Amino acid sequence: MTSTDVKAEIEQLRHQLNQHNYYYYVLDDPRIPDSEYDRLMGQLQQLEAQNPQLITSSSPTQRVGAEPLKAFTQITHAVPMLSLDNAFSVEEMADFERRIQDRLKTSDSITMAIEPKLDGLAISLRYENGELVTAATRGDGTTGEDVTQNVRTIDCIPLTLLRDDYPEVLEVRGEIFMPKKGFNKLNQRALTAAEKTFANPRNAAAGSLRQLDPRITATRPLSFFSYGTGETSVPVGESHSQIMAALKNWGLPVSPELTVRTGQQSLKATYDAIASQREDLPYDIDGVVFKVDDLKQQQKLGFVSRAPRWAIAWKFPAQEELTTVEAIEFQVGRTGSITPVARLKPVFVGGVTISNATLHNMGEVRRKDVRAGDTVFIRRAGDVIPEVVRVLSERRVENALPVKLPESCPVCGSDIIRPEGEAVARCSGGLFCAAQRKEAIKHFASRKAMDIDGLGDKIIEQLVDQGLIHSPADLYQLGADQLSSLERMGDKSAKNLVDALEQSKETTLNRFIYALGIREVGEATARNLAIEFKTLEAIREASDEQLQSTPDVGPVVASYIKSFFEQSHNNEVVNSLVAAGIRWPAIEIDDSESPVSGKTFVLTGSLSRPRSEYKELLLEAGAKVAGSVSKNTDYLVAGEKAGSKLARAESLGVEVLDENTLLEFLAE
Ligand code: IVH
Repeated sequence: MTSTDVKAEIEQLRHQLNQHNYYYYVLDDPRIPDSEYDRLMGQLQQLEAQNPQLITSSSPTQRVGAEPLKAFTQITHAVPMLSLDNAFSVEEMADFERRIQDRLKTSDSITMAIEPKLDGLAISLRYENGELVTAATRGDGTTGEDVTQNVRTIDCIPLTLLRDDYPEVLEVRGEIFMPKKGFNKLNQRALTAAEKTFANPRNAAAGSLRQLDPRITATRPLSFFSYGTGETSVPVGESHSQIMAALKNWGLPVSPELTVRTGQQSLKATYDAIASQREDLPYDIDGVVFKVDDLKQQQKLGFVSRAPRWAIAWKFPAQEELTTVEAIEFQVGRTGSITPVARLKPVFVGGVTISNATLHNMGEVRRKDVRAGDTVFIRRAGDVIPEVVRVLSERRVENALPVKLPESCPVCGSDIIRPEGEAVARCSGGLFCAAQRKEAIKHFASRKAMDIDGLGDKIIEQLVDQGLIHSPADLYQLGADQLSSLERMGDKSAKNLVDALEQSKETTLNRFIYALGIREVGEATARNLAIEFKTLEAIREASDEQLQSTPDVGPVVASYIKSFFEQSHNNEVVNSLVAAGIRWPAIEIDDSESPVSGKTFVLTGSLSRPRSEYKELLLEAGAKVAGSVSKNTDYLVAGEKAGSKLARAESLGVEVLDENTLLEFLAE
């Protein structure tokens, strides 16, 4: 190759790599497999190694490589980096729009651009002639720290802009954040290495960006979304949404949730929609930002002190608050698991008042070193059980003692055992323990199990405490007179409960198996067992090996099932239940007709309908659905971006179907 050819080849490779980065990170639509990307990168690295004079700092190969710094230098922002005013209610949002209408002397609704408020840290990226030249933190808004070397290691931030129509100077403002998955992995790694963990993704992102050694930053899973511009040599749009579209075109990631709406109702609906997605988004957000879309209107509105009049952050209720631990107690679960629980001074967090938080297990208590009397951060996110995030150690009271696992069960006094290698300690009392009995019966009666209407937790607790029932089977011997003697139970509701018990006898085999509360046998596994074995007798008599041929049943679950049916008291309960009249329709599956019945499916990747919907359809058609691919899998249904499951299916020779073929199968 002549030197001009080499140069052209190198440029061609760089262009291709940048383009594929854009498809992957900005459009979220990869066009080539990772292996192909790696191959192109390898090719470029090789050519550059042979022709070092052709290496430029903006080459995709040059993301890491800078030497550690002694200290960060300061950068003065060409345009100050502002902050946002907050709103916490519909009323405050309405006030915000009213103030704008007054200033603009209009009664028309104002068109707003809406995007999630990302919970990370603000950054200003400066591109000159299409190349990333500096990246600076917000600092005090006027000057920030030069973190260019670190920002260059973030894969989704382009080192060079795409297309040639960018302005000579383009400052992009946005948020650097750490996606939840990456954060969890990072903390998991820190835990195994006995290193300090980060309290939340935002701290992790900030800590990762403030590394003097860019090689450390390069190992951290950081990401970025643009939300505005600073200095630009020419205007890049007439509205916020146009600017965002232009940035996206130049290869900068923009929040996919960005929308433009007009009118309070519509704004509120968008806020609600984003709030409801919050838990499912791959990154933390702490509110929704509303910006007047039209730049002319923005200019007329201007700023007050540090915040624009044309934007507001409607924040979600705080998910973390401080409170004190009044005591640490131990709860006994259905399978005897002993869970330490922090009793808290009640505190309002995540929209509700919290007075208990789980501490999961003793390992967690030790790691967080939570003690009675401590001041702690409590977190409640969505439907998740409230948690103690960390202790504020500087506020520890004197003489606070470390928590000790009790030697005997606080409920029944049996020994507490902690099997080798398990995080969870357990009460050895089994169904002798009133706590385990109560939980087992609550589970038995629950909606997805026997679905006994009107048999609430409080009633079960009374029944067990008064010695009226010892096992689920005793429920079916209860008469209306016994029930009506309970607290807050009239004759009418006692009679209704007896009727509900009678009705619950008509059930399905999978509900019944699930209701037994065998360790690790959830709804899906119960269903798979019912389909695989068809009768209770067959499950009871199944060998370890036969059990393991059921989807999602491995050696551990198989051993739990076997040992459940090996215990005579369990068998007695099962026999009494059947004797009491619990029954289910026989399961018959005609394998000859449907191409899916009896077959084991695994679903992966993104499909056009929720996976749960397909699962439902498959189960109805008599198929089994497993969560992971094994040699027992018949078909893998792979949607877009199928990852490791697809690879595993291919290596095991499992047939892979696309969504359309699945639909054809189901139609048959
Ligand atoms: S706009 C002139 N948009 O929130 C307005 N900020 O409380 C400047 N933030 O420092 C900010 N998501 O770090 C804007 N979609 C978004 C945002 C956002 C997160 C952060 C940003 C800023 C802070 C202000």
